[in-house]
Amino acid sequence: MSGQPSELHLFVLWEKARRVEARILEDIEQQKNIEILGKWELAFSGPAAEAYPAFYGGKKPLDGPLKVRKCGGGGFLLIVVRNLNPTYGSRWARDEKYYIANELMYDLKARYREWAGRKHRVHGTTSQREFARDVFLLTGHTAEEWERGVPDDVRLNIPAEAAWRNIVDGVGADMGLSRCRVVLENKYINDVFFEGQFKGRDAIVKCSSTCAWSIGNEFRLASRLRAVAPLVVPEPLAVWTSDDGRRAFVVTEKVGGPSLTDLLMRGVTEAQADGFASDILTLAKALHETGILHRDIYTDNFLLGADGHLKVIDLQMSIDRNDSEVPLRRVRREPQYALRMLGRPRGA
Ligand SMILES: Nc1ncnc2c1ncn2[C@@H]1O[C@H](COP(=O)(O)OP(=O)(O)O)[C@@H](O)[C@H]1O
Ligand SMILES: [Mg+2]
Repeated sequence: MSGQPSELHLFVLWEKARRVEARILEDIEQQKNIEILGKWELAFSGPAAEAYPAFYGGKKPLDGPLKVRKCGGGGFLLIVVRNLNPTYGSRWARDEKYYIANELMYDLKARYREWAGRKHRVHGTTSQREFARDVFLLTGHTAEEWERGVPDDVRLNIPAEAAWRNIVDGVGADMGLSRCRVVLENKYINDVFFEGQFKGRDAIVKCSSTCAWSIGNEFRLASRLRAVAPLVVPEPLAVWTSDDGRRAFVVTEKVGGPSLTDLLMRGVTEAQADGFASDILTLAKALHETGILHRDIYTDNFLLGADGHLKVIDLQMSIDRNDSEVPLRRVRREPQYALRMLGRPRGA
């Protein structure tokens, strides 16, 4: 069976396959139907025993620690290739018996696994579907982006807290999330930010395990503020909290930017300054009307929308002034309050 004129594929040499790396690269280079687009040294930013199951996904959970013992947890090599004149045929798969695979990729993978000593030390893709999934997780770029050219910012798309990968691809996908890529990690009380799509709209996913409570707070107060001032507040789209309350994420409409910090650095015209001032006034009135104290208003937390209006973000630490439990005078007097915001009991 003959397929497309060419296909993109990848190999991964996990750490313990790298002693035969030179031999494998030489063999790939000699294949007349394979062109190497590039190779990248990558490393998991968190524990490898958690990152492996996040990468392999699948219905049966992978034994992370066992995988680390077999394949190593250190730096690994990603090789992206173009296969010219791909052909498909029946090949053996352990669980599914036979399946239809890219024949050359399958056979090369089998050969390199033999050289590497233990089967799973070498990973390789044998279908376009598999390539699309793997290349997105390994490089943060979709297969379509790769078809347009080799990206210059290849970055592992598995967060240090790999559990978030499974959460956004699992429960997140059920809620409407897709194509989530890591954009920011370890920002104070949040573990990771993803950008992706929520029911077809560009969205930002903010994930926290340090301060899960504040995520729900942001969703609730941002929704209230948005109802009053839709031009200056991005739309909160969804929120999720784990059953034990320890993890939460909030999905918000993505604002294109730049931030007000960047705008001011570049310089603004008088007309723009008037527009921004008017947006900030609209926001101030809306905050007053809704009884919300934002508590983190500064230029980084204003982003310019495509409609030309500034939008305020980051209501995580905002306070509901209608909430009688939070008398404002006490906030100022008691530094313990900050610890309570982080979910720790007072006096701890
Ligand atoms: N709705 C959004 N649209 C676009 N970018 C966003 C959005 N929300 C957050 N970001 C990006 O993520 C960064 C951190 O988000 P923020 O909510 O301000 O959390 P933090 O408390 O970590 O500052 C922002 O500075 C911005 O670059
Ligand atoms: Mg911020």
